[in-house]
Amino acid sequence: MKAIVIYLSTSGNTKAMAEAIASGIESKNVDVKAVSFYDVKPEDINEADAIAVGSSTFYYKMLLPMEKFMNETLAATNPEGKLGAAFGSYGWSGEAPILIAEKMREMGMNVIDPVLRILHKPTDKDVQECKRLGIDIAEKLKHRSKTA
Ligand SMILES: Cc1cc2nc3c(=O)[nH]c(=O)nc-3n(C[C@H](O)[C@H](O)[C@H](O)COP(=O)(O)O)c2cc1C
Repeated sequence: MKAIVIYLSTSGNTKAMAEAIASGIESKNVDVKAVSFYDVKPEDINEADAIAVGSSTFYYKMLLPMEKFMNETLAATNPEGKLGAAFGSYGWSGEAPILIAEKMREMGMNVIDPVLRILHKPTDKDVQECKRLGIDIAEKLKHRSKTA
């Protein structure tokens, strides 16, 4: 079982969420990498059973390069049936994670509901919430592998 946490972050807030989510996944002994979408390789996505994607919200949307990544790179890996999770830091409206989850569902992924949104820089309590999402991802993966 493998998971990947892919993020786009302008000032590090969504990146901090990604690292905390990955540490939650790792704490349950599931193999995981947190990577910037700039560095992610299609084979990393192909190998992953769970894919978490995060972007901060800019102008009421996810950042444009992340939208391109979702529509082109992620869609091309045919992630149907994989476990998905969406997250992101925001300032006031926070649409990006909702839009990411919507795209994941369009691709046939099973997306964890609700998405995880954190206002600005994650506090210690927010980091715990991100770790909790990571644990949830790992537990859902283990459950799926048992029932498969
Ligand atoms: C130019 C600009 C536009 C933004 N637009 C939005 C927006 O439409 N909605 C929102 O919730 N936050 C908006 N934000 C706030 C960012 O989402 C917020 O600062 C976030 O913490 C950045 O996270 P990051 O470091 O992961 O990129 C905007 C910020 C900037 C600088």
